[in-house]
Amino acid sequence: MQHLLSMNHLTKQEIENFIKTARTIECDRGTLPMEQTFASNIFLEPSTRTKNSFYIAERRLGMDILDLNGVDSSVTKGETLEDTLKTLEALGVQLAVVRQPETGILQQAAQGLSSLSIINAGDGTGEHPTQSLLDLYTISKEFPSFENLRVTIAGDIKHSRVARSNAYALEKLGAKVSFVAPVPWRDESISTDYITMDEACVQSDVVMLLRIQHERHVIGGQQGDYLQEFGLTKQREQRMKDDAIILHPAPVNRGVEIESSLVECRKSRIFDQMANGVVMRMAIIQTLLKGELAYEYKN
Ligand code: CP
Repeated sequence: MQHLLSMNHLTKQEIENFIKTARTIECDRGTLPMEQTFASNIFLEPSTRTKNSFYIAERRLGMDILDLNGVDSSVTKGETLEDTLKTLEALGVQLAVVRQPETGILQQAAQGLSSLSIINAGDGTGEHPTQSLLDLYTISKEFPSFENLRVTIAGDIKHSRVARSNAYALEKLGAKVSFVAPVPWRDESISTDYITMDEACVQSDVVMLLRIQHERHVIGGQQGDYLQEFGLTKQREQRMKDDAIILHPAPVNRGVEIESSLVECRKSRIFDQMANGVVMRMAIIQTLLKGELAYEYKN
């Protein structure tokens, strides 16, 4: 069965194919309604963008949708996620989109499934591959190639599944990735250079800002005057290259990682990212259900 759990499981060609498919869908919306196909959206953590853009993508593809959450599903009675997924498979559901707090748990769940595809919509501090693919799609609309593109990801790297997925994917595509982060929020398991925010703004083609993931911090809060030291201020934005762009997966904490007025500035593509999320998620669903990925999840 095919799943999308990690950007590390995709080849460069497969990532490029996702971008191509999203572009085709966006250009002519040339998608045929699927035969009756059930999708279950399981969101055990809050979401505005991912949940609703999957819902719209599924509706545009003609799918039937079942919503599960942590309040009115049997997860509240202690049923494991693995058993929940097996139950949906037994009911005849073909696709499960899952957001939940345990890093890496979907990998194990995927191995026991034979007719249900899983999409990781964010697992703890692990990965967020569909956010990464929509970020890549957004970048692909601005620059002719990823090769040697300079991308800086700034913020709470250690707790960010978006940073991890994007670092894996961008390196695979030939981009040069740097991180900006306070020392306690660095992640030494990803071999990427750390630079200052001032350096990042001068040299980058893409500056991607991250929200501080307070809900995942065991100790320690915000680091000093975060905006001045690690955030995007108007002064820094003025030193960016003329054709550089600003990304943020959102939700944005205005005035913390980015000065509020910059969210809508000329360089910002933050709301474009959200719009691109719908077509990219349509492309992801189509690709998975057609069985076009190579990675095998083995028992
Ligand atoms: N970017 C993102 O995952 O947003 P949501 O948490 O609103 O889904």
